[in-house]
Amino acid sequence: MTTELLKPEAFDAQQYFERIYARPVILEAKKLSQVFGTGKAQRTVLNQLDLKIHKREFICVIGPSGCGKSTFSRVVAGLDGYSSGEILVDGQPIHGPSPERGMVFQGYTLFPWKTVKENVMFGPKMKGQSHASAEAHAREWINIIGLEKYENHYPNELSGGMKQRVAIARALVNEPKILLMDEPFGALDPYTRQKMQRHLMDLWQNIDITIIFVTHDMDEAILLADRIVALKANPGEIKEIIEVDLPRPRSPELLLTPEFKRLRERVDFLVHAQEDELDPALENLPKIPRMTQVSTTK
Ligand SMILES: Nc1ncnc2c1ncn2[C@@H]1O[C@H](COP(=O)(O)OP(=O)(O)OP(=O)(O)O)[C@@H](O)[C@H]1O
Ligand SMILES: [Mg+2]
Repeated sequence: MTTELLKPEAFDAQQYFERIYARPVILEAKKLSQVFGTGKAQRTVLNQLDLKIHKREFICVIGPSGCGKSTFSRVVAGLDGYSSGEILVDGQPIHGPSPERGMVFQGYTLFPWKTVKENVMFGPKMKGQSHASAEAHAREWINIIGLEKYENHYPNELSGGMKQRVAIARALVNEPKILLMDEPFGALDPYTRQKMQRHLMDLWQNIDITIIFVTHDMDEAILLADRIVALKANPGEIKEIIEVDLPRPRSPELLLTPEFKRLRERVDFLVHAQEDELDPALENLPKIPRMTQVSTTK
């Protein structure tokens, strides 16, 4: 099945990527390494990563569990240092967290004792804005994420999807250059997740921002990304960078097209081939002995 959307004249992938690569590099990793522990316990988690991300790109990072995706996110966020190499934003080394790199991480990182509005106002107030100005900015973003009716609610009164929308607003109110997202929709049900993906796409298409999005979900990566960075584990290295040559805007119907399936197979192969290598024990799972008396008659 080839949809109208996928007609070659409607989308020129080569031109699309040429335009991306012509944009300035916003984030560059040069031989970036992260080594944890010492002596026998020493472990290289990221090994000499080289990567250039261009302004306004949407990058998804995938790879098997434990390959270093969150380690990479934390270094880019400035939450952790790194062992060697360089990591530059607009040509400048990263020295700690900054509002120019907004974060929306796994789990909910809202302040539970602050309302939605107070959570979103936090960044602008930290930057020294007056209460009135911070409130106006916060309201603007709360409207964009469609939660104006909830501005005085506390996080525990919101659904998971709503909390993540607040987390996105709280990051974007600071007008970051880069939005870093580590499995932001991992805890959501499939329906809410799909709505959040569309919402994020809309935001990205309408604001000047580069997104680095870590996910386990291959369909999600293909739906969202310009390029997918597939990491391999032990040590974390870039196995392949895949250009997602599918037209935008992308809708869930795209999942049914042969073009999507072709990419899906490629990504699946890159991730799962390694998972088997990673944990051979999964291949030889023991037979579970019966531990309780189970009645066979009803
Ligand atoms: N601060 C730390 N000290 C020691 N080891 C660490 C530290 N942080 C991460 N690691 C190790 O680095 C490896 C990569 O972890 P990381 O959290 O980056 O993986 P991941 O790709 O995000 O996995 P997942 O998909 O499960 O979230 C793991 O083996 C982890 O135990
Ligand atoms: Mg992780």
